Amino acid sequence: MRMPSLNRSVVAAAAVVAGLLTPAVAQEVFRHTVTGEDLKIMESSQPGGRDTEAVRSFLNTGVNPYTEVKEHLPKGEETFLSACSGCHGHFGEGKIGPGLNDSYWTYPKNKTDKGLFETIYGGAQGMMGPHHDLELDEILTVMAWVRHLYTGPIEEADWLDDEQKRAFTQFAQKHKDDDTACSGQTFERADAANHDVKPEKTAC
Ligand code: HEC
Repeated sequence: MRMPSLNRSVVAAAAVVAGLLTPAVAQEVFRHTVTGEDLKIMESSQPGGRDTEAVRSFLNTGVNPYTEVKEHLPKGEETFLSACSGCHGHFGEGKIGPGLNDSYWTYPKNKTDKGLFETIYGGAQGMMGPHHDLELDEILTVMAWVRHLYTGPIEEADWLDDEQKRAFTQFAQKHKDDDTACSGQTFERADAANHDVKPEKTAC
């Protein structure tokens, strides 16, 4: 049947509107660090925390907008201390899991935000299980905290842009020394955003 031209333009307009209303879908394909399989982020992630501005931007660009953004660091620290430090150490210095605060990466792709996200979300080998129990937005904050713990040469911090490299202050080594007196206990969240303040122990 011949479609009148008016209807055709209505159909075309509806298609454009539908396109605009479609929720953001990941432009990038995220793959398991070891097997390479598609992690199918939009189907497997927690429903909460999927639709923040940062997550939308990350899913399209592969760049974590929370890197070195002070107000997001305390949340990242909190998640790191509850979900990661038991294996990776309080400061990412390594324990039964490898160090995350130096410039050596078992999987070199972890030098990119996308690669780090894939490793955290999908897991790697052995005890490094998947972390899709965390909301996508939480993963971005914990990634920012991992980057913040970095103590290696700044020129190897590929995840920082030039401006971020200039502004980056190495996570104070003294925190590591302070920690030895206080096995596994955390310090005040406020310290997360300010290296110069002497950490206060909460419960030791
Ligand atoms: C139960 C212990 C355990 C927990 C909890 C854990 N990890 Fe791991 N992680 C490991 C082990 C073991 C490896 C080494 C796996 C491998 O080489 O494939 C690893 C590897 C990694 C790597 C790859 C490092 C590299 O050199 O390429 C990253 C990144 C990482 N973990 C981040 C995290 C983050 C972030 C969390 C918290 C959300 C976390 N891990 C929680 C045990 C753990």
